Amino acid sequence: MLWSMKKRAYRVNQRVMKAASLMLPFPQPVVLSGPGSVAKLAENISIRGLEHVLVVTDRVLVELGLVDGLLRSLEEHGVRHTVFAEVQPNPTIENVEQGRAVYRDKGCDGIVGFGGGSPMDCAKIIGARVGNPFMSVRMMKGLFKVFLPIPPLFCVPTTAGTGSEITIVGVITDAKTHEKFAISDLKLTPKIAVLDPTLMVGLPPHITSSTGMDALTHAVEAFIGLNGSPYTDEKALEATRLIMASLEKAYLDGSDLQARTDMALASLYGGAAFTRAYVGYVHAIAHNMGGLYGVPHGLANAIILPHVLEFCRHDAQAKLAALARAGGIGSPGEDEEALARAFIEQIKGMNQRMGIPTTIAQLRAEDIPLIARRALAEAHPEYPVPTIMSLAECEALVRGLLA
Ligand SMILES: NC(=O)c1ccc[n+]([C@@H]2O[C@H](COP(=O)([O-])OP(=O)(O)OC[C@H]3O[C@@H](n4cnc5c(N)ncnc54)[C@H](O)[C@@H]3O)[C@@H](O)[C@H]2O)c1
Ligand SMILES: [Fe+2]
Repeated sequence: MLWSMKKRAYRVNQRVMKAASLMLPFPQPVVLSGPGSVAKLAENISIRGLEHVLVVTDRVLVELGLVDGLLRSLEEHGVRHTVFAEVQPNPTIENVEQGRAVYRDKGCDGIVGFGGGSPMDCAKIIGARVGNPFMSVRMMKGLFKVFLPIPPLFCVPTTAGTGSEITIVGVITDAKTHEKFAISDLKLTPKIAVLDPTLMVGLPPHITSSTGMDALTHAVEAFIGLNGSPYTDEKALEATRLIMASLEKAYLDGSDLQARTDMALASLYGGAAFTRAYVGYVHAIAHNMGGLYGVPHGLANAIILPHVLEFCRHDAQAKLAALARAGGIGSPGEDEEALARAFIEQIKGMNQRMGIPTTIAQLRAEDIPLIARRALAEAHPEYPVPTIMSLAECEALVRGLLA
């Protein structure tokens, strides 16, 4: 009885959030796209009168020389730059505080997030701290807690997965409690997003696959949730189509520029969909795998996605069938139930072909109650999932991920 009342209360909350999200003025970044488009960013920064930008990235990308082209073109346009490359995968509050100190000491007036979701998110939250020096990172956890604007922010994704270049979200880990949490605010939306597929050519296959499955998870969770709109549905279906057509191609041949372009777009569309329509239990559980064990975000999502889809298959059947049709999966004559099953099988098959395991090696049985509690605390009441999960169901699902 109490449980059914709770579920009803969650649904009321979600309907209010849906109405709000339809009315909110989501800012749209200007998108610069195509091979070599990163070269156009510096001009756009200098036109805005910015003099010194903090380039937030990670060591791997600096060592690969991937950031060099951007730095050169900033110099050509008379924009000074300082590189902050201390961002780790699953970035931490310490990374943010270090970056913020560099921003302040160097007298920067804008930020470029250059890399995967980790540097882009770190850049967003450095910006939030710069704009709100009186608020700690923790105080900004949740929805619409960033009080004052952030400095101009520009994002250059080098993975095709998170969609952070278009979302209102920054995800951060508290290294002390191993808790990973999101800060979501319209003010975190970048001014410009650069989709340059040439930056993704050297992405190793295992990162191509896992980040690509993150993009798919965004599209799927946004689409099967109850808070979609015609806009988010269109973006989610198009992202699914592109990913089904191109992810395995990009995995097999990293230099396939068309496949890289498709994936960069799919990632942007997945981000556009979920930032308005939310994610679901896949993300809620995956965030714990990142926070507790450092499992890469996309990898955790890829492994968890089929489990969550099996859990909600009955309630989400029609939408899973629509995703199958968008992805060219199954045959036209098949009924919804068969298509929904085929969609889940397709995801399992892609995982297998791309070497993604079916279990999470680091997961420890004794952590399962904590993981389930934290996951549901993240998901409830906001995530508009097709089927609401109880604690016992969540624990059982996570147990299914044990190696
Ligand atoms: N803000 C959002 O909307 C949002 C959405 C989903 C996920 N996330 C967060 O994003 C983070 C994950 O981001 P990610 O999956 O992009 O991974 P990442 O940024 O952690 O990068 C993973 C690894 O790939 C390397 N790499 C990146 N680009 C490369 C390239 N072009 N060539 C070679 N190596 C490259 C990086 O150096 C790093 O070692 C997580 O913290 C996740 O929670 C944020
Ligand atoms: Fe994600």
